[in-house]
Amino acid sequence: MRLWTLCAPILALALPASAQQQDYTAANADRQAMLDRLGIGEIRAGADGFNPNAPNAANYDEAKAGTPELPPLLRTNAGLPVRNSKYWDRRRREIVELFDREIYGRVPLTAPKITWNLVREEKAVEAGIAVTKRWIEGVADNRAWPRASTTIAVRYTLPESDRRVPVILSFGFPEGFKFPGPPRPADPGPPYTEQLLKHGFGYAVVVASSIQADNGGELKTGVIGISLQGRPRGPEDWGVLRAWAWGASRAREALAADAKVDARRIGIEGLSRYGKAALVAMAYDPHFAIGFVGSSGAGGAALYRRNFGERMGNLAAGGEYHWFAGNFLKYAGPKTEFDLPVDAHMLIALSAPRPLFIGAGTVDTGDGWVDPRGSFLAAVAASPAWTIRGAKGLSSTVFPPELTPVTGGTLAFRQHRGGHNNRDNWPSFIAFAVRELGR
Ligand code: GCU
Repeated sequence: MRLWTLCAPILALALPASAQQQDYTAANADRQAMLDRLGIGEIRAGADGFNPNAPNAANYDEAKAGTPELPPLLRTNAGLPVRNSKYWDRRRREIVELFDREIYGRVPLTAPKITWNLVREEKAVEAGIAVTKRWIEGVADNRAWPRASTTIAVRYTLPESDRRVPVILSFGFPEGFKFPGPPRPADPGPPYTEQLLKHGFGYAVVVASSIQADNGGELKTGVIGISLQGRPRGPEDWGVLRAWAWGASRAREALAADAKVDARRIGIEGLSRYGKAALVAMAYDPHFAIGFVGSSGAGGAALYRRNFGERMGNLAAGGEYHWFAGNFLKYAGPKTEFDLPVDAHMLIALSAPRPLFIGAGTVDTGDGWVDPRGSFLAAVAASPAWTIRGAKGLSSTVFPPELTPVTGGTLAFRQHRGGHNNRDNWPSFIAFAVRELGR
């Protein structure tokens, strides 16, 4: 029972304000239209994460999670074994195609061009370090469909240096954004931004909602809306996670154009839904040099095929379906997750051989919903993609106890205490990044 009392409130807090306060009327209508287009009558209910007595209560019992067989990583769709890096490149393209078609959707050719402007610049001292802060905006070209528009907001801080500096780009919220409800207790220890600066890194934030709103009722605007030019979204068109990842790639290009930034050392970070987006960004953009994917759960690093925490039905519900391609809905009814041609290990594998750090909170500190062990098992199953590229995947195949970094390879995993956040894993991630990228 202890688990439940811990889980529910932390989960509620974890939801960004946008999700808590949103009106899903328009989203539900859009979702229904997609279900009609796909000829789907009914979607299975997801897991109930709040009521432990519900018939569909979320499972947090490892004995009931199942030991699913996964689609093979190193075997082509035609069943041929993938034995070397040349064949991996081909297999990789097959996997990307499957994720495009069935999970995240395709970026249409009509995705808008983004033009960047410098909005403001300041010199400052942060944590005793001289820094330059810049605010830039990426205006989407909407001449083909002026009824939709968007301006991508990015802010970043670079430590003064004679050399170009590495930068970690995070998916985040508008400046000054506060979660609703009582103020949260201050974080113990220095903020991650300070930790990054002390290690010679710059930090940047791209406001996810400025790329695309986190609501299925708003798909007619943002970069998705511009690209659709008034059409409804087709079953293979991009969902919001793909759009966020695409926007982060545009932000990466803008950062790379700054003479003070080391374009070859730009990483991507995110928590929860933004952790999913960070993993998608790593998968689709080979120019991200490193990834920190925190508590990304179902639709991110956790295996769909395990029954633990969040399930397909949750992802396909009115508040989340828009993260995915329309086709994804099929797997929440009539098909199931066992019919998926992919699982999370194949998404993780798309980052190989670049360094990738997967984190989660422990189940008993309230992060069970994201299935920490399911993310670890996915990473284990993804490791051969590093090996085939001549790198080292996870350094252990044994699920580590909390606070035990598995960072001996280029694919890393750690469970922190303290629930649904990335805060407690930043020091471990930064040590990994310093080792993998250099200062
Ligand atoms: C919900 C959702 C998760 C998501 C999380 C978040 O809990 O079910 O999939 O990651 O919100 O982004 O906060």
